[in-house]
Amino acid sequence: QWIYLDGQYVTKEEAKVSVYDHGFLYGDGIFEGIRIYEGNIFKCHEHLVRLYDSAKSIMLNIPLTMEEMEEVLCETIRRNELKDGYIRLIVSRGAGNLGLDPLRCPQASVIVIVEQLAIYPEEAYLNGLRTISVSQRRNIPDALNPKIKSLNYLNNILVKIQANHADVGEAIMLNAQGYVAEGSSDNIFIVKNGVVFTPPCYLGALEGITRNTIIELCEELGYKLKEEPFTLHDVYVADEVFFTGTAAEVIAVREVDGRVIGTGQAGPITLSLLKRFREVVT
Ligand code: PDD
Repeated sequence: QWIYLDGQYVTKEEAKVSVYDHGFLYGDGIFEGIRIYEGNIFKCHEHLVRLYDSAKSIMLNIPLTMEEMEEVLCETIRRNELKDGYIRLIVSRGAGNLGLDPLRCPQASVIVIVEQLAIYPEEAYLNGLRTISVSQRRNIPDALNPKIKSLNYLNNILVKIQANHADVGEAIMLNAQGYVAEGSSDNIFIVKNGVVFTPPCYLGALEGITRNTIIELCEELGYKLKEEPFTLHDVYVADEVFFTGTAAEVIAVREVDGRVIGTGQAGPITLSLLKRFREVVT
C-alpha cells in the first residue's frame, strides 16, 4: 500500500508524521473522505471545492493547487492499483512548536491514503440499521461550523461511543434547539407520505456531497424534497428514515430509540434512491 505524504509516495510503515504536527496536537486541519468507483473518483471536484473552502475558512494554505491535488489523488490510486475504494485526504497545519499558534507551522502537511472499504454488510442495506438519538449536540459556531470538515471530530466520536454502548451502527445528533441535525458521520433523511425531508445545513449538518447527490436524485425520480427543520418526533413517526455519506452511501434505518420505522425494513423510496445512486456512481 502506497501513501502520499508531502510530495513522496511511501509505504504504510514509512508513513509517519511529527509529534509536533498541529493536526495531532490540536486537531488543526481538515479532511475529505472520497470514493473511487470503477476507477473513477466520485464528485472529485465537489470534494476538492469543499476542502479548499474549509482551508480558506481556517486560513490554512494548501501547498498544492486544486489541479495538482487531483493529480496526486489519481497517482495514489494508480500506484495502489485500486478500482473501488475510499480516499482519505488530510491537510494538517503541519509541524510547529507546542504553542497553538499556526504561524509557527511553516508548511501544511498533505496526506492521501487509499483503501478498500465496506463499512456495512450488504444485508444492512436491505434490512436497515438500528439507531438511537444521543445527548451530544451538534455545535454550530465558528471553527465547529459544520461547513468546515475539520479534524476536530471529538464531538462526533462521543456520539459514536454512545452508539457503541447501545450496540447500534450510527446515531442521531440534534442541535442546541432540539432539531435533528445529522449522524456522527452521515446526513439524515426521513420520508413521510411520499415526501422526502432533510434538515437544512444551517441547523448544524455538514453539506454532504452524498446528501446533495440524493437531493438531485429525488428530483430526477420525481420525489418531492423539502429541506425543512424536523424533530425526533417526526423521525419516530416517519415512513422511512435513511442516512447518507461517502462511506455509508444510502443506508436505511429500521428502528430509532426503540420505535420501529415503517415496516421495520428498508422502505421503497430509500431502496429506489440507493439503486439509482449505485447506478450513477459508476
Ligand atoms: N463522513 N456529516 C458528517 C459529520 C460527516 O463526517 C460526513 C462524512 C457526512 C456525509 O458527507 P459526505 O456525503 O460528503 O461524505 C455528514 C465520512 C468522513 C465519510 O462518509 O467518508
